[in-house]
Amino acid sequence: MYDYDLLVVGSANADLVIDVERRPAAGETVLGGDLAVHPGGKGANQAVAAARLDARTALLARVGDDGHGRLLLDSLRAAGVDTAGVLVGGAPTGVALITVDPEGDNSIVVSPGANSRLTPADVRAAARLLHTARVVSAQLEIPLETVAEVVRNLAPGSRFVLNPSPPRELPAEVLAACDPLIVNEHEARVILGDARVSGEPADWVRLLLAQGPRSVVVTLGAEGALVCDGRGVTRVPSVRVGAVDTTGAGDAFTAALAWRLGAGAGLAEAAAHAARVGAAAVTRRGAQESYPTAQEVEALCGAVPDATGRAAGGAPAAGERGGSR
Ligand code: RIB
Repeated sequence: MYDYDLLVVGSANADLVIDVERRPAAGETVLGGDLAVHPGGKGANQAVAAARLDARTALLARVGDDGHGRLLLDSLRAAGVDTAGVLVGGAPTGVALITVDPEGDNSIVVSPGANSRLTPADVRAAARLLHTARVVSAQLEIPLETVAEVVRNLAPGSRFVLNPSPPRELPAEVLAACDPLIVNEHEARVILGDARVSGEPADWVRLLLAQGPRSVVVTLGAEGALVCDGRGVTRVPSVRVGAVDTTGAGDAFTAALAWRLGAGAGLAEAAAHAARVGAAAVTRRGAQESYPTAQEVEALCGAVPDATGRAAGGAPAAGERGGSR
């Protein structure tokens, strides 16, 4: 019996967001709108997204003993995330500087701050959390050696989900635990090397699988996602909506996928759920504030598709976009 459907190990950032007409090029200064401060960070985002969907969720993370840390703890608790594993102090809370253009696309620079002080020893000290979670997810805004320690301390029978963002080369022991490894095109390029990400996306999926993960999901934005658990590559369609802000949509996708996998869904079915949650998330501003409840997903996207996506509601319309790149 598990206490948690999902334990997220990862980052928590204050997102400092400015709307811009155009994201600046190198050497350029642009004027934007008023500054908005939102709770974010890929780990905290995943935790809040899962809790909104009613998953019993805990977060292992580190924030600073400061106003940004309190903003994050408030957001996590309001969503129902168990924050007993959120450590406080050691450095200022992580900060993400984000510009969002009128199409809803963003550019992000992260100062990891306290995230970089989440250590392998912190993971070992959280053994109880790790051993009472059905699914454990991580990202890479915390040290890679901390993620490796998570993998070494997984309980038998639990499932590990990794979104390697921001991407870097992964050690074999981390890759071998991923079920699935979830990447977008940019992340696939870093893991495989640019030269190998040239053919069809289905080829990238097979190349990624050959690196050692048990299963792979490649998100392709408006093109949907490709999933593979070793028995052939399946395409999952995107859900088209009007995008306002794509920040954190990938985190919502990962959280929903992990939650559905833990509930017993197959990979394609879980990815179809996740595509709907990611799509709903881009229709509102911010990361955590944009995450939908299961009822909101159903209202926006219609009935859940079958494993092939054939019964999907929310028909595509011109100028609309999927939300899980
Ligand atoms: O994935 C979106 C997140 O990336 C933002 O919330 C920001 O904090 C960065 O971590």
